[in-house]
Amino acid sequence: MSSLDDFSDILKADEPLADYTWLKVGGPAQYLAEPQSIDQLQALVTCCHEQEIPLHLLGGGSNLLIRDDGVSGMVLRLNAPCFSEITTEGNVVKAGGGALLSHLISESVKAGLGGLEVLTGIPGTVGGALHGNAGGRGGDIGQFVKSVTVLTAKGEIFTRSEDELSFAYRKSSVNELVILNAEFELQTADADDLTQRIRKIWIMKRSTQPLSHQSAGCMFKNPRGLSAGALIEQAGLKGTKVGGAQISDRHANFIVTDDEATSDDVLRLVELIQAKVTDRFGVDLELEINIW
Ligand code: EPU
Repeated sequence: MSSLDDFSDILKADEPLADYTWLKVGGPAQYLAEPQSIDQLQALVTCCHEQEIPLHLLGGGSNLLIRDDGVSGMVLRLNAPCFSEITTEGNVVKAGGGALLSHLISESVKAGLGGLEVLTGIPGTVGGALHGNAGGRGGDIGQFVKSVTVLTAKGEIFTRSEDELSFAYRKSSVNELVILNAEFELQTADADDLTQRIRKIWIMKRSTQPLSHQSAGCMFKNPRGLSAGALIEQAGLKGTKVGGAQISDRHANFIVTDDEATSDDVLRLVELIQAKVTDRFGVDLELEINIW
């Protein structure tokens, strides 16, 4: 049986996590590991499984709130180049789970392949996007997936093809610990047309979302047929502050944080929003972000 001592060169103990997230709040990880190869990742996961050490996979940190107490167990971060490779063959693009979604989109456009540009402006990694079936008005990432290769919390690696996967609004059946890579089937398209489409999406996002502030994007899923942002605005909550956390004046489904904010401020604001929206409209808002 291996021990954590075997991984000392890739481990940091008591590592503050706030700066790895877009909200920039929350406490430390008991351990943060940055494996340098798939084999090393697999060995570390197997070791943690054997020793019953809880594992958490950190993606781009854009859809994540860390509690002020921090995270016990092992947080994995896939920032080594082997986890973010992107290759193209015909109309299929293969991307590592640790690659930035924005990088996958730009590489696809460069190859004259269309589809993924509808995801323009969504932060985070390919793995994170697949885990939560990231998307927007233009579509979701799940619709382009051909296969996904995962590493389970027990250290097993396997590939699932399109027909073994299911995606719904901000939900996917890919819930293993790590998404190592995925293949996307795209359509041939004119790179200039794609660039134009991307520009339009950016203009729309910049005018409706507080992109220059610290935030985790939309906090809540849209209830079926409704807009969480519109409900929060109609409940009169835009601009409401708890400590250093505030409901954005630009888009009410965004909570923005300042440098004094704590995770608890964000959580109290989340509770306040949920209580007011339920009280006013009888609708329960479900969180879109993950809380550790
Ligand atoms: N609205 C308001 N007040 C607000 C915000 C929105 O009245 O404060 C209204 C808008 O005027 C519009 C409607 O609500 O009529 C929908 O708003 P918007 O077009 O901004 O889209 P959304 O449903 O709020 C979704 C995704 C976003 C994605 C955009 C654009 C969810 C929860 N959000 O937002 O994704 O960027 O579409 O594609 O599905 C995210 O998931 O983190 C995210 C930001």
